[in-house]
Parts: sequence; C-alpha cells; structure tokens
Amino acid sequence: MTSRRRPGSLLRNLTFVIACLSPFVQAQSHETSAPSEAAVQQRANTLLHHMTTDEKIGQLTQLFYQYFPDTVSFEERIRKGQVGSFLFITDPVAINHLQHVAVEESRMHIPLLIGFDVIHGFRTTFPVPLALASSWDPSLIEHVQTVAAHEASAAGVRWAFTPMVDIARDPRWGRIVEGAGEDPYLDAAVTRAQVRGLQGPYLGSPEHVLACVKHFAAYGAADGGRDYDSSYVSEDLLRNVYFPPFHAAIDAGVGSVMSAYMDLNDVPASGNTFLLQQVLRKEWGFSGFVVSDAFAVQDLTTHGFASDPQEATYRAFSAGVNMDMGSKTYLANLGNLIEDKKLSTAQLDNMVRPVLEAKIRLGLFEHPYVDVAQTEAVLKAPESRALARLAAQRTAVLLRNESHTLPLSKSLSSLALIGPLANVQKPLQGPWSFAGEPKDVVTILQGLRNKLPASTRIEYAQGTDLKREYQNDDNTGSDAEIEKAVQTAMHADATVLVLGELDDMSGEAASRSSLDLAGRQQRLLEAVAATGKPLVLVLVNGRPLNISWAAAHVSTILDVWYPGIEGGNAVADLLFGDANPGGKLTFSWPRSEDQIPIYYAHNLTHVPETSKDFVSRYWDGPSSPLYPFGYGLNYTSFAISNLKLSHRQVGAGERVEASVDVENTGSKAGDEVVQLYIHQRSGSASRPVRQLKGFRRITLAPGGKTTLSFALGKDELSYWSPSTQAWVEEPAEFDVWVGEDSTASLHDTFTVHP
Ligand code: GLC
Repeated sequence: MTSRRRPGSLLRNLTFVIACLSPFVQAQSHETSAPSEAAVQQRANTLLHHMTTDEKIGQLTQLFYQYFPDTVSFEERIRKGQVGSFLFITDPVAINHLQHVAVEESRMHIPLLIGFDVIHGFRTTFPVPLALASSWDPSLIEHVQTVAAHEASAAGVRWAFTPMVDIARDPRWGRIVEGAGEDPYLDAAVTRAQVRGLQGPYLGSPEHVLACVKHFAAYGAADGGRDYDSSYVSEDLLRNVYFPPFHAAIDAGVGSVMSAYMDLNDVPASGNTFLLQQVLRKEWGFSGFVVSDAFAVQDLTTHGFASDPQEATYRAFSAGVNMDMGSKTYLANLGNLIEDKKLSTAQLDNMVRPVLEAKIRLGLFEHPYVDVAQTEAVLKAPESRALARLAAQRTAVLLRNESHTLPLSKSLSSLALIGPLANVQKPLQGPWSFAGEPKDVVTILQGLRNKLPASTRIEYAQGTDLKREYQNDDNTGSDAEIEKAVQTAMHADATVLVLGELDDMSGEAASRSSLDLAGRQQRLLEAVAATGKPLVLVLVNGRPLNISWAAAHVSTILDVWYPGIEGGNAVADLLFGDANPGGKLTFSWPRSEDQIPIYYAHNLTHVPETSKDFVSRYWDGPSSPLYPFGYGLNYTSFAISNLKLSHRQVGAGERVEASVDVENTGSKAGDEVVQLYIHQRSGSASRPVRQLKGFRRITLAPGGKTTLSFALGKDELSYWSPSTQAWVEEPAEFDVWVGEDSTASLHDTFTVHP
C-alpha cells in the first residue's frame, strides 16, 4: 500500500523549496521573455517528486467557488492539497485570501489557478463574440481580448475559458452567440486573434492569462440545435469544418483545451480518445492540459459511457482529461484507481505535469497575489470603454438601407424610440457577462440623448414587455401599449424601433425551436411600420431571427447584436453617421427555422433536369438564405474590380497570388471587407461550391483606391479527403471569386496540375 501522504521534515521542505525556485529564478532573470522549456519542466518534475498522490490529484481538481456548496471548507481543502483551481471567483480580495492559504498553509505551497468565463470582457463588457467576429477585424478582436485579459489578471483571474470556437450551422442553438458563426476559415482567423490577445506574445506574458479553447469538439452540431444534445458528424466534416478553429488555437499556442459536454458519434467528448489523444495530442502535438466542461467527468455516467463514478474517472482520465471541473469525481476516485494499480503513478504525473507547468509559466509561484489597490483602476480604465464603443461600432451589420434613411440627420426635431430593448442595460451585455456591471451599460435611449441636442424631442415607448418565460405573445403586453407606441411614432420625424432578444434568450441552455421575434414584437413591428413614417429597425440579438416580414416591409435594418457596455453610444454613433457600419454576417441568415441547416459552403448536387427554372429545393419557398454569409451594407459604396491571378497553372504546393482593385465610389469614408472564395471543381470528394480562403477589412476615404492581394497555396487548397482518408492538395481546376460577400461575381480560374 503506497503511502499517499508523506510528512516532510523542516530541512527537507526547505531544501525542496530552494530546489524548486533556483532554476526558475535563473530562467526568469530576463523579465520579458518566457522561461526556458527545460527550466519549466525541471521545476515541475521537482514538484512532482515531492508531492503525494493525493496532492497530485488535488491539482487535477477544480471547484466552483459559487453555486455548488461543499461539505468541507475551501480553506480546508486547500490546506490538504485537495484542490488546485477555482472558478466563479472574481473578487481580488477573496482570491488573494485563497491564494494565501494555498501558498502559506499547504504542504506544497502550490498556488491556485483561478479560471473564469472571460468571454467578451471582464468588467468592461465588449460586444458578444458573434458580434466581434462580424467585424471581420482580427486586430480589433486581439485588442479586445488583450484588455479583457488585463482586467481579469488585475483581479487575480489568470485563466480564461475562452475562445469558444464551435462552428454553428443551426442558429436555434443558443451558443451560436459565443462563437464566430458557420465558417472554419473565418473562425480560425478570429481564434488566432483571441489567443494572441488573451495570452500575449508568450504564455505568462504580464497582464495576460492562460486561454482555453472550447468546446472540443463539434458541440455546435447538436441535433436540432438543442443544447447538449448529441452531435453526429462525419470525420471529413469534423476535419474540414469543425476541427480547423481548434487546430488554429493549438498552432497559436493556446495553453488549455476544454472538452465538450455532448457525445460525438456516440462517444462523449470528455471520454473521447479519438479527440483527446489521436487528434489533439498525437496529430496536433498539444502539450498543454485539458479541463472538462462543468461536471462532464461525472456526466459520463449520465451518457451511459461509465457505469459508476470510478469508471467515469478511469475513462475521462485515460482519454486525456487532465482536470475535472466541478464534479470532484477525480478527487473521490483517482486515488483508488492508483492504489488498485488500474492507473499508474507515471500516468498521474503525466497528467499533473502540464497543469504545474502552466502555473509555473504564468509566474504564479513568484506572483500569486494581486495588488487590490490597483484592480479598480484597471477595471475602470476609460480607454477600455472607448475600445468597447469602437468595437460596437465595427461589429454592427447594416442589412437594409433602401431609401438611405440612415444616417439620420442630427437636425431632426423629434425622434421616437420604441421597443423592449431600447431602454435596458443588462440585455445589451448579452450572455456570459457575469463580471460586468449592468449599471455601467449605456442604454440606447441614453446614447441618443448623449448624441442629440437638447432641442431634439426624443419620445420613448416600450411598446411591449419581453420576458423569456412568455411562450407566446398573448401575455407579454397589451394592445394599449402598442397603440401608445404607434402614437409616439406618428408624432415624430422618424422612429427607431429596437427589437430582438434578451440576454437570457441566447447563450448556454438557451436554444430555441423558433427564430421568430419573441412575444408581441412582431405585432409591434407591423403596427409601427403601418404608420408609414421613416422607420429604422435596430436588432439586439445573439442569433439570426426571423425578420422576413421586416426585410420586405422595413426599408432600414441595422443589426447591433448584444453591443456591450457602450452599446447605446455606439448605436447612436451609427444611426447618426458618426460611425459607418462595416460589419459582415458570419452565418447564412435563414428566412425561418424551416430552412435549417443552411450554410453557403454546400456541395453541388443533382438539379432535376425536368425543371427549367429550378430556383429552389423547396416547392413551397426559396431555399436561399434571407442574407448570405459575408453580407453587410455600408453608408458609402465600393467597387471591387480587376481581379488578376499571378499564374494560370501551378504545381502542387505552389502559390497563386490573386489581386484586386478596390475603390470607395461613395461620398463617405467607410470600411469594406473584401472576401476571396474558391471552388475546387473536381477531386476525390465533392467540394463546396464556395469556400472562404481570404479576407481583408479596409478603410477608404471617398474616392480612395487600393489594391489587395491574397495568397492561395497548399494551406488554402488542401482538404481532408474521405476517399483517401488523408489531407490532399489535388490536381484540379479552381474557381476564384472576390467580392463583398459569398455571392461575389468577380471571377477567374486557375489549375493545379499533377
Ligand atoms: C459551462 C460552459 C462552459 C463554461 C463552463 C464554466 O457549462 O459549457 O463554456 O466555460 O461551464 O462556466
């Protein structure tokens, strides 16, 4: 019976502490770069050498600080070495307290790793990730996550469960809001930017955090968009669509991965050896650690993938889940598995080592505490709010502006502001904004008041109440309320109508069977539109909604997503032309849930020869989306022309450069997102009709011109072939399109020859 606890003599402990510190201190002598790999490994191994089995298991245990009361005090568990990480603790004083217990009162003095969902900001709530991705601006996204990391680390949170990179092609799934939409190329670019912003130039960079790419993998493919439901995804779809953003995160140096809740092809992701060993570690060379999603280890029994918690422990651990989030299943069962020699101490060391290495790299041993006096100054930095306002401007997508109603004139004498989301704070933060203060959020009403002269009469009417628990529209307000809103619109020069979703109608455990405007919003919309007055529909949302009626009857539609802390000011900037919307859709906008799944990168398949005007795959409606992937309008106009390819013929592995000229042909400065798509006309598998393989967001003054070039090489032209079960770059003819969305018509071709 191996002893799981070995009391150490004072001298022994002192020797051990000196042994732990010395190599690292040398390595850290030059402050601004990462410690050497050797120094980190040596230090981790020294720690492991002195740790008991129980202390090692403690490092693989993460506990919720809130929501799940424990029978033993946190301090007691820390002193006994039974916990190595907490989540849902954001108060720097409380974090310092727990760190002090770990560093001063436990035998091994190993600091805690504090993790949290810093998804789109910490105290400064930025637009939700789906909005950030809609900016198509990686440098903005990197900057946002840099600020989020700075704020989180100033509070003592050194691990962010971000980026969430799950590809979503079913917007009924509530968590589409947390990702970058339907396309792997865009998602991968957004992911790299997030990892850079969160972790900095190297893991352990000051004022940065450990990032955690999630949820591995294909969580967004849940049947019916029902959160947590099974995902059934073919290997070629996994490798060509769902994996690339994760691979991009690993290549960008992400230090941790979160395994997903659901079962993938009947094998739970958190017990899935194919995912966690074969793909993540063997093929991609990931050397960080995997944390399960909350209670996902224990949940292996729910899946029927384990008959009891001990088997769940064995399966998750053997598959490659290093840390058990929240369930204490490892804490209760790993020791017995080691004692019964079902798992070895060497296996345990291999799982603990990357956790210790992350703590070493983060400098937690040298700097376990935060300077609480500095925290608030960081969290309230005015430049962070300014960035949040800029981000909300750049993430907005202009869907319609038929009669150029936008931008509105600031000389309006009266403006009606209507809708259940026009004068609210918390909903503008969107889901996953726990550390943000709703009271800090600028409402759209306040934003308009800040923007317009006192002489402008702004009349607000809610028009209808809105609550998630209302299943239908009969009990969410009254006709009188709608009538009041109609009268308000009738007596104003123009109306801004703000509709969409509350923050709890999107996100985790917030899937919907319908995309309709919830409650009585559609009635309100139609009643206000019937006034015939100039109307701007502003959407606050975390997914595409069924706005087919609006698209046919409302000339001006601006989607601002959940715009964050500065949402009201940014919306006012956009409505009155102090900012020009330049965002683009990251998904194909369905006309209704009846079309789901719908995505642009579909294959070419049979077209019935009997139908001469075959325009839809449904006889009862169009099969095209309401708005295509990559779509978004502007207050100016651009001409994209003169597509040139550097070569008509290339060999495998060689590059083709595509260049285009872009001109701002309008009267206002503005941004365009120039996008490049390819199609491989033949190969060992059907290939999508179009695939995004390049994009650039540029700003041009009126009359401004520029030339952009895009490289197409092995990375862009290869795919994983289900026929050959391998990554291939095949000889074929390729189409190239460049334009302002996925329906671009500027076209050319080249050939990859054998
Ligand atoms: C949640 C989410 C995950 C999050 C974790 C901790 O259930 O699935 O994204 O990071 O638990 O809050």
